[in-house]
Amino acid sequence: MILPASAPESIASCAASVRAGNLIGLPTETVYGLGADADNDAAVAKIFAAKGRPSDHPLIVHVSAQDGGMSGAAHFAAQVPPFAQQLMSAFWPGPLTLILPRRAGVGAAAAGGQDSIGLRCPAHPAAQAVLRVLHDALPGQARVWGVAAPSANRFGRVSPTTAAHVASELGPDLLILDGGPCDLGIESTIIDCTRGAPVLLRPGSISRLQVEQACGRKLLSKEELLEQEQRGLEARNAPRASGTLESHYAPNARLRLMDAKALQTAVDLLGEVMVQGGADAKPTIAVYARSVLKKVPLSIVLRRMPDDAAATAQQLFAVLRGFDDANVKLIWVETPPDALEWEGVRDRLQRASAE
Ligand code: TXA
Ligand code: MG
Repeated sequence: MILPASAPESIASCAASVRAGNLIGLPTETVYGLGADADNDAAVAKIFAAKGRPSDHPLIVHVSAQDGGMSGAAHFAAQVPPFAQQLMSAFWPGPLTLILPRRAGVGAAAAGGQDSIGLRCPAHPAAQAVLRVLHDALPGQARVWGVAAPSANRFGRVSPTTAAHVASELGPDLLILDGGPCDLGIESTIIDCTRGAPVLLRPGSISRLQVEQACGRKLLSKEELLEQEQRGLEARNAPRASGTLESHYAPNARLRLMDAKALQTAVDLLGEVMVQGGADAKPTIAVYARSVLKKVPLSIVLRRMPDDAAATAQQLFAVLRGFDDANVKLIWVETPPDALEWEGVRDRLQRASAE
């Protein structure tokens, strides 16, 4: 059932559902989440079951923005290093997830058995309205400190950016709060703060540079961390991050990244083959490109990629879903520019194209 976030009853219903140990579809500024009480292991188990996600993959826990997310962080995290504190002050509420050491006895199932926990304070007003009602329990009610919510898609699939996407992934019985299409469209930037230095686990809308400027520290890549560890500075296992599996966020169709020149060549070849073979009216190929292509056969489904990285991120998953709905077998995408602000989009496309 889809409830409009503009109605106060919808917020109350969603909060009541979480309190009762059930799942909700929750809008955020990045993508829609599939949420449950983060301290209720049985409720969290329902998330793993609904997504078909292995239960040792940790989930992100969302906290209320009152006090800048600090009371939520204090509940779930054993310790917040100063650089993580600076990142919270700079970017919460917003699309930034911090991995912190987990306080014993909280969020165990949500953390997938790790001794760390991923925390995020989302900026979407509807998400915050629900989190606030849960946090400010009425007399006799237990406070709900956080909502564990991975993206509300089946495991390995493209993340949902509208309430309708969530319903099509997880079925009409789920209570889904409709907060409109997500503003940002790709998942939060994830920074591991358990390694003594900030480590980028997943790029997102907040860029590497913004993170470094906010905390005054160099942001390490996973590769740089490994090098450091091999040099004996640290010797713990790398955390799991299913969002960092090579093949993830995959549409049904096979996706290929090509530069503008290769793309034009491919389109030309296709045009020749189609002329020879007689017009087959069924679209089997979609193209998503910034460059203006010449002589595109009519049967190709063509979408223009915006010149702007944020605008592309906002529409990316919906565009991929649209191609699947058009039943194309191949998706050809023009490789995004090699610039900092495109890192999140490039990352998602590279993973969608991995076999
Ligand atoms: O934008 C987002 O972050 C969205 C919205 C709903 O907030 N959520 C999201 O959640 O993308 P999910 O579960 O699809 O991705 C969570 C990522 C996974 O790659 C997970 O492994 C990683 O965060 N993660 C969470 N807790 C972690 C932990 N303790 N250690 C390492 N990685 C963790
Ligand atoms: Mg996901």
